[in-house]
Amino acid sequence: VRIAVPGRPYTVYVGHGLLERTRELLAPQLPKGKLAVVSDSTVARLYLHRLVGGLGGLVSEVPTWTIRPGERSKTVGAARRLWQFLLASGVRRDGCVMALGGGVVGDLAGFAAATFMRGISVVQIPTSLLAQVDAAVGGKTAVNLPRAKNMVGVFHQPAAVVASVDVLRTLSPRHYRSGLAEVVKTAVVGDADLFDLLEERSTDVVARNCDVLGEIVARCCRVKGDIVAADERDLGSREVLNFGHTLGHALEEAAGFRGRTHGEAVAIGMAWAADLSTVLGHCAPAEARRIPAVLRSLGLPTSLRGALPKGLPELMRWDKKARAPGIRVVALESIGSCRVVGPVSEEELHASLERFHSGGAHEP
Ligand SMILES: NC(=O)c1ccc[n+]([C@@H]2O[C@H](COP(=O)([O-])OP(=O)(O)OC[C@H]3O[C@@H](n4cnc5c(N)ncnc54)[C@H](O)[C@@H]3O)[C@@H](O)[C@H]2O)c1
Repeated sequence: VRIAVPGRPYTVYVGHGLLERTRELLAPQLPKGKLAVVSDSTVARLYLHRLVGGLGGLVSEVPTWTIRPGERSKTVGAARRLWQFLLASGVRRDGCVMALGGGVVGDLAGFAAATFMRGISVVQIPTSLLAQVDAAVGGKTAVNLPRAKNMVGVFHQPAAVVASVDVLRTLSPRHYRSGLAEVVKTAVVGDADLFDLLEERSTDVVARNCDVLGEIVARCCRVKGDIVAADERDLGSREVLNFGHTLGHALEEAAGFRGRTHGEAVAIGMAWAADLSTVLGHCAPAEARRIPAVLRSLGLPTSLRGALPKGLPELMRWDKKARAPGIRVVALESIGSCRVVGPVSEEELHASLERFHSGGAHEP
């Protein structure tokens, strides 16, 4: 899949068994200088030997930096240690960082590469579904500040992306489902045929059938690539990628980023956004109902259990993507087509959250 970002287009290679073929795939794109690999300990144990083997003829020795898995490794301190490692390993301006892992590794390694010596090349080798369909494409890199996710970062497009779908077999069911939520989002905002595929082949999707996964990852990269190419710096049209994220992010924040995964929160957020879109008259109810239905078939939640978290509208307002007054949301027009609407008033928001919470949204 070609990502046509103006000035620095790149290719996303999607398939299976690609780790072993990295040298052949990447030879034209790789800079001449020293390579270093960044991974997390879980992914490194499973796949580092395959990647290094695949690079075999290119490098005799691959310096590798391994972080602890998880969001807590995405810090400024971790970036500083990585910069020092790159320096000590002899990586210079003509060098390259290979990010082998999920979105955490991709964001941290991308950020370190973007800033080390004012920016060196990065190749993304995403190993989680979320990273293959979303994080590895688009050039956003970041680290977290305490209680402020992705607060420090830069745009830095990769030189290439290698998404080998066979590695998704070892992903935990929870992380796999979390990635599926982003797949559904991508289909909803830009690919009605992908949505049909998810509906028709949900059993194969859940079973991680390699052929279906290849199709899904390639289609998602194409949709995201087109959106990113039109709005690289997230100043306008890229906003539709936030479908389901206004409520999703607020739910994560209300729970202190514990409990639900990001994907579960976004799934609930998408079910709500679909319902709100019908209430606001942007979308026919039958069309909107396909969203919670497909999410459920993929094992994702679509309703809010227990008490409605306090202060949700405020958390949605303080979402960094929101603009006062009221709240802007990404609304559904039809599957495959969304647009930003608003501001939605606080009253409308309250009413729709209450309706969604009480289950009114799920009645035929
Ligand atoms: N840059 C972007 O545009 C963008 C977009 C979306 C999300 N993100 C970021 O991505 C991060 C979340 O990404 P994630 O869900 O991949 O999290 P992650 O990187 O923490 O990976 C999830 C877990 O799965 C493990 N794992 C990864 N691949 C595996 C495999 N093939 N087999 C077995 N285990 C594997 C990891 O070790 C980790 O424990 C967040 O920090 C988020 O901010 C960035």
